[in-house]
Amino acid sequence: MVFSIKHIFSLVSVLFLSASLTTSVSVPENFAKCLSDNSKLSIPIFTIYTNKSSSFTSILQSSAKNLRYLLPSVPKPEIIFTPLTEFQVQATVICARKLGIHVRVRSGGHDYEGVSYVSEIESPFIILDLARLRSISVDIRSSSAWVQAGATIGEVYYRIAEKSKVHGFPAGLCTTLGIGGHITGGAYGSMMRKFGLGADNVIDARIVDANGRILDRKAMGEDLLVRIMCLVDVTNSGRLTYKDRDTQKNL
Ligand SMILES: Cc1cc2nc3c(=O)[nH]c(=O)nc-3n(C[C@H](O)[C@H](O)[C@H](O)COP(=O)(O)OP(=O)(O)OC[C@H]3O[C@@H](n4cnc5c(N)ncnc54)[C@H](O)[C@@H]3O)c2cc1C
Ligand SMILES: *[C@@H]1O[C@H](CO)[C@@H](O)[C@H](O)[C@H]1NC(C)=O
Repeated sequence: MVFSIKHIFSLVSVLFLSASLTTSVSVPENFAKCLSDNSKLSIPIFTIYTNKSSSFTSILQSSAKNLRYLLPSVPKPEIIFTPLTEFQVQATVICARKLGIHVRVRSGGHDYEGVSYVSEIESPFIILDLARLRSISVDIRSSSAWVQAGATIGEVYYRIAEKSKVHGFPAGLCTTLGIGGHITGGAYGSMMRKFGLGADNVIDARIVDANGRILDRKAMGEDLLVRIMCLVDVTNSGRLTYKDRDTQKNL
């Protein structure tokens, strides 16, 4: 039996407009103010790191997998923001557009080209690091789980295994891969022949679009979900669920 991941939330599939900044107030100040203006609850100070924060470097390095992109000569973000809620992700998109700040979105940091934590062309840029958005809620009865984008695939395997010895999710081998970048890139692994890619087993997602709207499968429409998840095997009826080849039960 295979699990379906319902939820890759805080997926920011957007192109940001790059306008140049004209104000004299610093990017971090502008951005922090805009975040609070666009959030119902105040933004905890510990979620925003600038190069004045003592933990800026350790947060930047925390999940970065290609050490070349951490060298001093490589451009650094003005801010690393680690949101605690999807509304803070929404506020990030709204503010980044408004202020003309480029955003790099990081889940597990396994991008070898460093694009989730470095921008060599767009400046200024910030990192939206989803490391604190990593809840996983497994529902064995429906063989599905809601997983936040900042969780790792290893955490997903673990939470499923805690509840069942006969369920699993077909995705990558390296346990520290982030759900946000891994599943949207396909996610192949040792169960691929029988159950397909991780992306093939996604049945719902919550995303923040370029206008800062939070959309689920119903709201975004099947077409967009298919494009985001690189789904390759959608039937003519547009169904996104999969049948188990042995039991012929819908997954
Ligand atoms: C050691 C190692 C082992 C690997 N093993 C496998 C494997 O077994 N199977 C396999 O299929 N692949 C494997 N990969 C490739 C891996 O799946 C991709 O690099 C994947 O993109 C990593 O996702 P991430 O979230 O960890 O990375 P990140 O660096 O955080 O993100 C990767 C890309 O996705 C974007 N992104 C991340 N999160 C979001 C989000 N929430 N919304 C929108 N965009 C987002 C980033 O901006 C970036 O462009 C491996 C990579 C490494 C380094
Ligand atoms: C910190 O960032 C600012 C830009 O916001 C930059 O001018 C300054 O040189 C940086 N300081 C260090 C120590 O990197």
